[in-house]
Amino acid sequence: MAKKDPNAKAPTGERGTVSAQPRLHQRAAEIQHYGTVSHMLPLDLEEPVRLEMTEQLNLLLADTMTLRDLYKKSHWQVAGPTFYQLHLLFDKHYGEQSEIVDTIAERIQLLGGVSIAMSADVAETTRIERPPKGREEVPVQISRLLDAHQIIISHCRELARRADELGDDGTNDLAVSDVLRANELQVWFLSEHLVDEPLVHAEDSRLRNAS
Ligand SMILES: [Fe+2]
Repeated sequence: MAKKDPNAKAPTGERGTVSAQPRLHQRAAEIQHYGTVSHMLPLDLEEPVRLEMTEQLNLLLADTMTLRDLYKKSHWQVAGPTFYQLHLLFDKHYGEQSEIVDTIAERIQLLGGVSIAMSADVAETTRIERPPKGREEVPVQISRLLDAHQIIISHCRELARRADELGDDGTNDLAVSDVLRANELQVWFLSEHLVDEPLVHAEDSRLRNAS
């Protein structure tokens, strides 16, 4: 028996051609290829500028999506005496990075470009080292997160300078106000956890008790 075409026109009944049948499994050619920008937009920014900025923003987006996911991995897999506070902190930073992801992606679209979106494409593009699938101890989790922040922060500074040179004030503002500042603050909250401070006995009292 021949397979039924799910998108075949519903038979015309007494009530005309109106049908509640959803048209499923549709495919068609892309309406815009990745790596391109719309030719003309009323933004007073030339096409080559928008092309360079969207290319750079897509790199920043891929790294930010990877950092966001690294935070969720850390949130789920954290272990040890600081479990509770880190579990909460990692999720807070995850939420903030998710907002940054949306801000960058929408900037790419408004510049006439195409945002990278799917995890397989992000994995091919990011400069952040892939962690193992398994659990790692807290100092390693935090070090990985700090390394990822450093890649993003240094790219942000470069991008901000280049956007300024090209007259793309919006991208310059995004790189500094939305991405750089938030990343700097998260670095502070993370790096303080790698300071080797005593939990119960001050160093001096330990030395006194030993003598
Ligand atoms: Fe959770």
